[in-house]
Amino acid sequence: MSALTLDLVHGSEADPITGYRAFSLGQFSLRRDEYFATIEWPAKGRRHIHEIPVDYFLRALMRDVAWGFFYGWVNFDNIFGTRNLYGTVEMYAGRYNEGYHGAGLSYVETFEEPEIMATFKAILEDWVNEGFDPFAAPSETSSSVFGVKKGSNLKAIERTRLVTQRMPGIPGDSPLREEASGYSINRQFHDVSQDEPEVIAEPGFEGQLHAFSLFKYLSRSDVTWNPSVTSVCRQSLACPTTEEGMLPIFHGNDRVEWFIQLSDHIVWDVQDKETGRPRATITMRAGDVAAMPADIRHQGYSPKRSMLFVWENATPGLPQLYESGKLPPYPIDF
Ligand code: PHB
Ligand code: FE
Repeated sequence: MSALTLDLVHGSEADPITGYRAFSLGQFSLRRDEYFATIEWPAKGRRHIHEIPVDYFLRALMRDVAWGFFYGWVNFDNIFGTRNLYGTVEMYAGRYNEGYHGAGLSYVETFEEPEIMATFKAILEDWVNEGFDPFAAPSETSSSVFGVKKGSNLKAIERTRLVTQRMPGIPGDSPLREEASGYSINRQFHDVSQDEPEVIAEPGFEGQLHAFSLFKYLSRSDVTWNPSVTSVCRQSLACPTTEEGMLPIFHGNDRVEWFIQLSDHIVWDVQDKETGRPRATITMRAGDVAAMPADIRHQGYSPKRSMLFVWENATPGLPQLYESGKLPPYPIDF
């Protein structure tokens, strides 16, 4: 880390017993032990304490960092999370939990994006042990996440999201993507055809027409629950991803998101964004399409590795249009 970002991080020395550092951000404090991340915040004249199993916490933290706080809300669980205000980031505890908020136990503080980002990266660096990959499916990584401090896994936590410059396979495409094409086929996708489409261009159009197999591409993804931008058409972002186990966050939408289930199935738990009250449970099977409304939070469960196409609308100003009610929270009236 540069000296500048280090200045933004408030961390203690390593704990003499567990080896982990503790951190603070404003009035929040965060520490870990062998099994839990503990978050404290001021409420009703005391420090309120909240525990999150450390594997859950680190998987959520990894997404928040890799996605630059994503769109809207990243709920680590039903108490703690971040809200992206694009430039600043809100950190909250209990604010979007009806019980906590109603009882006056919630707390919110807003940080400049570089400060919260530097702190989150420092936590990942210190709290992720050797052998644990917070992006991997739980059954594909080790349980070294638990216990006292043992090394680190910088390679896993510094993995950059693949963002193609052009369609995968076209000259000028991201060099990272080229590297990824060398990945092996995931154990659960051995039945996925590895054939690439044959492209026959009319004379004069050679080199301008291209196609690639998205299924082959996704069958080699080494991460789970990490949509990567695979094509950009103006503000329309195609973000396919491979999913296995549980989406490690409850994402609170600040815009409508579209899902196309490409293979297998995912069960979505859908709740009210503000209160966490249950709204729906949806099973999406291969071929199903859903528009996730702008006023919900959702968490997905994929019992077997599956392929999901996430379609995001990056139009500037969208969150304000939904927040003000100028746009309804769903895309169409039937
Ligand atoms: C979402 O919150 O919409 C989301 C996040 C990560 C995924 C898929 C969907 O992999
Ligand atoms: Fe979402």
